[in-house]
Amino acid sequence: MSRKKSETDVEELPQGIEIKLQEETETQETAGSEPVEQTVSEAPGLKTNASFEDLAGVGPATAEKLRASGYNTIESIATASIGELVEAVEVSDNKAKEMIISAKELLNMSFETADRLLEKRKCVGHISTGSKKLDVLLGGGLETQSIVEFFGEFGSGKTQVGLQLCVNVQVPVEKGGLGGKAVFIDTENTFRPQRIQQMAEAVGLDPAEVLKNIFVARAYNSDDQMLMAEKAEDLIKNDGVKVLVIDSMMALFRSEYGGRGQLAERQQKLNRHLSALHKIADLNNILIYITNQVQSDPAMFFGDPTKPIGGHILGHQSTFRVYLRKSKGGKRIGRLVDSPYLPEGEAVFMVSEKGVTD
Ligand code: GTP
Ligand code: MG
Repeated sequence: MSRKKSETDVEELPQGIEIKLQEETETQETAGSEPVEQTVSEAPGLKTNASFEDLAGVGPATAEKLRASGYNTIESIATASIGELVEAVEVSDNKAKEMIISAKELLNMSFETADRLLEKRKCVGHISTGSKKLDVLLGGGLETQSIVEFFGEFGSGKTQVGLQLCVNVQVPVEKGGLGGKAVFIDTENTFRPQRIQQMAEAVGLDPAEVLKNIFVARAYNSDDQMLMAEKAEDLIKNDGVKVLVIDSMMALFRSEYGGRGQLAERQQKLNRHLSALHKIADLNNILIYITNQVQSDPAMFFGDPTKPIGGHILGHQSTFRVYLRKSKGGKRIGRLVDSPYLPEGEAVFMVSEKGVTD
């Protein structure tokens, strides 16, 4: 697991190269206007001043139990599952269902009309990967309100892209960025502040400032990883975070649930984790970038015999999936393999001392 990273590779730093990627890849709706800064929670109907006691069937005692179990907003009830609430506040299935429905009603969120969905899409922001070609492949950078998975073998550049996103998200709005902060959940001890400094200088940002705007947490087991994601939500809501990186998504799950008999349990837990991440991405208008390794698939006789870890669950829950391969001379090839509306395709990019570039 512990391969050496080339963090010491501090060559001469390029000076103030400004990235204009977002301006040049004009496909995104965010360029040149203010909607970037809007968060989904500011969209009409997703906020309410109601308290838990306003929910059907909830009295002070249940309200207290909800708070004690970590539910802080009506939104958190509206998006909870029945099973979760039954467990948290020891109510019947019916009562939990009633609570969820009335929370959704308070938030006006049971059905959304298509024009509202379009309105929400307008808030989508894009974060540049650092490579224009890769950005174009992904429709103008990585989208907020989505989970993007980059998978590939060791050294293929998954972590580098994650670090680069933590920097590029901070590019000010006037220059095509989101002027946001980043959260990095590190499960493999690969976060390198020195590398962030290099990348920041390369895009013309103040490295010291950039470091201050990245919140890093180390996760030591899968429970920890899930907890950190939950805790990150506070930062996301209050600190203008626009990207959450989980590097790596599967490593801890894989090592803890190794046996065949544990697979179902692992997938269930993973599903919960991913549902929580989806909610975070959706309700806060942020990008969730996750990395994943590949394993060889012995059943595969033709083509590339590797596949991402995590199986169907991860595949279905990621909005975009990109397969990274190493190529000659520091080049990397990114292949978009799964996207709701973009065509499949490939882009060649570089990982150099400047970070991720064309
Ligand atoms: P695993 O986490 O091991 O699965 O791999 P990964 O896909 O996350 O790889 P990562 O993003 O860490 O990429 C590592 C590769 O990036 C190294 O092998 C180098 O080729 C390149 N790299 C990392 N840092 C530097 C650097 O400072 N300068 C240069 N030139 N290349 C770097
Ligand atoms: Mg890595």
